[in-house]
Amino acid sequence: MKKDILNRQDLILLVDTFYKKVEQNAKIGPIFTEVAKVDWTHHLPKMYDFWESILFGKAVYKGNPMLTHFALKEKTTLQEEEFNTWKSIFYETVDELFEGENAEIIKQKAQSIADLMHFKLNMPKSHITIKNK
Ligand code: HEM
Repeated sequence: MKKDILNRQDLILLVDTFYKKVEQNAKIGPIFTEVAKVDWTHHLPKMYDFWESILFGKAVYKGNPMLTHFALKEKTTLQEEEFNTWKSIFYETVDELFEGENAEIIKQKAQSIADLMHFKLNMPKSHITIKNK
């Protein structure tokens, strides 16, 4: 039986495995490697912090993912297909490595953040202005 996600070490394994798959994916890999030219030594620790904040409620992540992805959307397509690809690689990685309550929770969190992000990125700009008033 696989173990559950219990600590930062487990999140490091999850994040490293996830981004190895992402990098090799024909649909979204180039967004990281060619469009954003991601510095992995910088991005990966940020993602360990992000998931530690989300899953264990530790306020270690400082950042604003919406701003990052809004800027990214100016340079590439970030729509249904890209988000579906991101989500399926994420679920596949979690299921491959872990099972248990936290493994289920992290998939649900990823889904709701991804869906909200997708919605915000693709809604008309006027709507964003109204919502922020
Ligand atoms: C199609 C889907 C997505 C693509 C292509 C994508 C791509 C990227 C890229 C290229 C970066 C910038 C890395 C850099 O320049 O350092 C980034 C940052 C980030 N992404 Fe995504 N992303 C996607 C979805 C998501 C989702 C669903 C989440 C959360 C569940 C997420 C969380 C983050 C976070 C936390 C950062 C770091 C932001 C910061 O503090 O600078 N991303 N993403």
